[in-house]
Amino acid sequence: MRSLYLLLLIWVCAFPSFGQPLPSGDALKGTRKYSDFEKSEVCKSCHVDIYQQWTQSMMAQAYTHHWDEIEYFELAVPHMEKAPELKDAVDGCNGCHTPMAFMAGDVTPPRPEAKSRANESVSCEVCHSIKGIGSDPPFNFSFQSSPGRVKYGAKPGLQSPHHDTEALDIYQKAEYCGSCHNEKSPYGVWVKSTQLEWKEGPYAKEGVPCMQCHMPKALGRNATMAQEDMVAQHLFHGAHDNGKVASAIELRMHPEEREVRYDGTVTLKVQLFSAKPGHKFPSGSVEDRIVWLHVTATDVNGKQYHLPVDKKGFAGEEYTIASDVLAYQDMGFPKGLASFPGVQRDGVPIGDRIFRMPYFDPEGRMTVMQWNTKSLGVDYRIGPRETKIETFTWKLPDDIPLGMVTFKAVLNYQKLVKPVADFLNVPADESEIVLVNTASTWVEVYE
Ligand code: HEC
Ligand code: HEC
Ligand code: HEC
Ligand code: HEC
Ligand code: HEC
Repeated sequence: MRSLYLLLLIWVCAFPSFGQPLPSGDALKGTRKYSDFEKSEVCKSCHVDIYQQWTQSMMAQAYTHHWDEIEYFELAVPHMEKAPELKDAVDGCNGCHTPMAFMAGDVTPPRPEAKSRANESVSCEVCHSIKGIGSDPPFNFSFQSSPGRVKYGAKPGLQSPHHDTEALDIYQKAEYCGSCHNEKSPYGVWVKSTQLEWKEGPYAKEGVPCMQCHMPKALGRNATMAQEDMVAQHLFHGAHDNGKVASAIELRMHPEEREVRYDGTVTLKVQLFSAKPGHKFPSGSVEDRIVWLHVTATDVNGKQYHLPVDKKGFAGEEYTIASDVLAYQDMGFPKGLASFPGVQRDGVPIGDRIFRMPYFDPEGRMTVMQWNTKSLGVDYRIGPRETKIETFTWKLPDDIPLGMVTFKAVLNYQKLVKPVADFLNVPADESEIVLVNTASTWVEVYE
């Protein structure tokens, strides 16, 4: 009898609505109408700064941004049409990129040019109707949505003429973000794991959630008629903000010997310290992203030499050193290209170290199609507060002039590997080279 009571109590506590728990994940499809959600423009009249900040963030463009449109409509949807077993996965893109369309059952949504409500992407209402997270760990849009008069947030007791408010703990928890920033492929592989990376890193232990770095608080008004207070800035700046990426990694470099004989060998060590990110770098769309270290030497005559990185010998290392090989052959299938040879894998100088994690399709070939990912390769990204060391051993060329040789290390970042961007005609900003950091040092060559 007592255990029955206990069970009842647990049931009532878990589901205060007495009925079913709110749906989350795949079960959200078709549970709502667009008209259940207010437009972000409605919020703008009072939440001016927050609205303008949000419109500049990637989440306001999650459905309309060029590369999203290209990958969804030119790879994912055609792939699903040829392989119907992918329907749930491809419909699921919308669960994170345009949750209102997904919940309204409007899948496949109209193209962005149709200017439908799908374009509202990750809107104010999508986020502020989240009432809970339906899975542990959170992943694949496992948020529970309850749109209506109540706007949920982090601050208790706020009054608004337009709506009710209610404070919930999850609004200051990383799990909230993890519901869309962790993703599992149809093969059960973690193809996005920003919250999981955060959780096993130092920031989770110190109680620093995503919001502290992506929604920093500053004194101001969160609504035109509100009192001054510390307000969460809706910046959501990440990979598409070059300033956020700049100095994410700090770089230092030194030679083993300051003076080297003309027929000798220089050994350089480069330290890469992850000072800023709360997760691995790169994180998120890891299938698309590369970070690479390019080291050059310049002699007294101004002649330049490129130094390839020393191999360390770990399993899968070949994917972390730029080489002249083809990859991404699986794009040929949705594109309808028989025996597509693929495109260049890296598009960066051969011999440079690449910090990345390769994704593999069911045939073991590298892929940028995360829904077609059956396994992952070596994870050679830089963890939060981790320091990696790379060594460059360089036998001085026979004709090296005596005097100073200077070395420069450059760490670059690219959101989308260039050969893929070129193949799919993705606008140039997605594959621009973004400088993360540089370091330099020198040696003296003597007779
Ligand atoms: C007529 C003005 C007005 C409009 C329109 C409006 N709000 Fe508000 N909202 C407020 C005021 C005022 C507060 C309380 C501010 C305070 O006291 O700090 C508030 C507070 C909030 C909070 C904080 C809740 C909490 O507990 O932390 C959220 C979230 C919110 N609004 C979301 C929205 C969304 C989403 C929309 C659009 C669908 C919207 N608001 C439209 C005036 C408005
Ligand atoms: C990706 C989800 C997300 C989106 C999109 C989003 N918010 Fe928020 N918002 C949050 C979270 C999380 C917090 C609480 C952050 C904290 O306290 O650390 C918050 C806080 C707020 C607050 C209270 C701020 C404060 O600290 O006083 C208001 C008001 C608000 N949001 C309104 C809006 C409006 C209006 C929009 C659209 C223009 C919007 N939000 C878009 C997640 C979101
Ligand atoms: C409803 C799903 C959803 C939720 C909840 C969500 N995000 Fe996002 N977020 C996305 C999507 C989708 C994108 C990708 C936008 C695009 O297409 O580039 C994104 C992009 C971002 C970016 C930009 C990354 C870049 O490439 O520049 C940042 C930063 C970010 N989110 C932070 C957060 C934080 C912090 C939270 C929690 C407060 C959060 N997000 C909650 C769906 C979500
Ligand atoms: C200690 C600060 C910090 C914390 C905590 C943090 N981030 Fe970041 N985040 C950054 C920095 C710096 C960058 C830019 C460098 C990079 O891309 O990693 C970034 C980048 C991102 C990106 C773009 C990643 C890419 O390479 O495309 C996303 C998405 C993101 N963060 C989401 C999150 C989410 C979700 C959380 C919580 C689970 C979180 N961040 C926690 C600092 C932080
Ligand atoms: C679980 C949520 C989720 C699902 C499901 C999802 N995405 Fe995303 N997507 C995100 C988040 C979050 C980001 C941003 C990550 C980052 O910036 O590193 C993103 C980024 C992207 C980007 C890169 C945007 C850029 O500008 O760099 C593309 C393209 C994309 N998604 C397409 C898709 C397609 C196509 C599908 C379905 C096959 C899909 N996504 C499924 C959450 C999701």
